[in-house]
Amino acid sequence: MSLLSGKVAVVTGGSRGIGRAIAEGYARVGATVVICGRTLATLQAVARHAERLPGKILPLGCNVTRLAELEQMVDAVYNAHGQIDILVNNAAQNIYGGYALDLGDVDFDRAVETNLKSVYRLIRLVAPRMCARERGSIINIAALAGLKPEAENLLFSMTKAGVISLTKSYALELAPRGVRVNAIAPALVQTDSTSAIWKDEEQLERHMMVQPLRHLGQPEEVAELAVLLGSERSSLVTGQVFVADAGISLV
Ligand SMILES: NC(=O)c1ccc[n+]([C@@H]2O[C@H](COP(=O)([O-])OP(=O)(O)OC[C@H]3O[C@@H](n4cnc5c(N)ncnc54)[C@H](OP(=O)(O)O)[C@@H]3O)[C@@H](O)[C@H]2O)c1
Repeated sequence: MSLLSGKVAVVTGGSRGIGRAIAEGYARVGATVVICGRTLATLQAVARHAERLPGKILPLGCNVTRLAELEQMVDAVYNAHGQIDILVNNAAQNIYGGYALDLGDVDFDRAVETNLKSVYRLIRLVAPRMCARERGSIINIAALAGLKPEAENLLFSMTKAGVISLTKSYALELAPRGVRVNAIAPALVQTDSTSAIWKDEEQLERHMMVQPLRHLGQPEEVAELAVLLGSERSSLVTGQVFVADAGISLV
C-alpha cells in the first residue's frame, strides 16, 4: 500500500510548476488528486501525462479568485469522491509590481484576491468537512518573501506574509478538531514564473553566488515537503512554516 492510497487531494494551480510537481508527487504515492487552474487544456495534459502513476490526476477548471467557481469545485470533489484529505493552496500570481509608491488600488486588490483571499475562502469551504471527520492536512504555499520582504515586490511579500499568518491562525483553531495546517515558503524555484531570472545567465549566476546551496531549486524538491506534510508521517506537525530556500535566509 502506497503512502497516500485512498486519500483525496486538491491542488490549486496544478497545471505547471510547483503545483504540478506536488500533484504528481501525490499521485506517485497513490492519491487521487484534483488539480485546478484557469486553463482546462493544460490541466488535461497533466492528467494524461500521469496516467501510468499509481494514483490519479483529475483536471477541473476553476479560477480561485471567483467564489462561485471555488464552491462548484469543492462540491464537485465531494460529490465524486466523498472526502478531501489534503488541500494544497498553491495558485498565486507571482507579482513583481515594481517600486512600492508606483502601485495602485487595482494592483493591491488583484494581489489580495488571488494570493490571499482565495486561500482564506478555500479553507473555509473545505475545513468544516475535514473537522467533521477529525482529519485533514492543509498546506499553503507561501514564500520566503513573506518572512523577509523583497525590494520592489511589496504586494507579493505582503500577501505571502498574510498566508503565513493565516496558516498559523487556522492551525491553532483547527488543531483540536484534528486538522493540521502548515505552510511551505520557497525562495527561487525553477518554474515559468521565474524564467526571467534563471534564463538570464548573469542574473542566475548572481543568485547562485549568494545562495549557500549553489543549486537552483526544482519544483520536485518543494513537492517532497508537500508529500511529507500531506501524509501521517507529519502527524505531530501543525502551524509551521517550512522554508525551502537553499539557505538564502542564512546570509
Ligand atoms: N517559483 C518560485 O520561485 C516561487 C518562489 C516562492 C513562492 N512560490 C509560490 O509557489 C506557488 C507556485 O509557483 P509557480 O512558480 O509554480 O507558479 P506558476 O508556474 O506561475 O504556476 C501558477 C499556477 O497557478 C495557476 N493559477 C494562477 N492564477 C490562478 C487563478 N486565478 N485561479 C486558478 N489557478 C491559477 C496557473 O494556471 P493558469 O494560469 O492556467 O490558471 C498555474 O497552474 C505560488 O504560490 C508561488 O507564489 C514560487
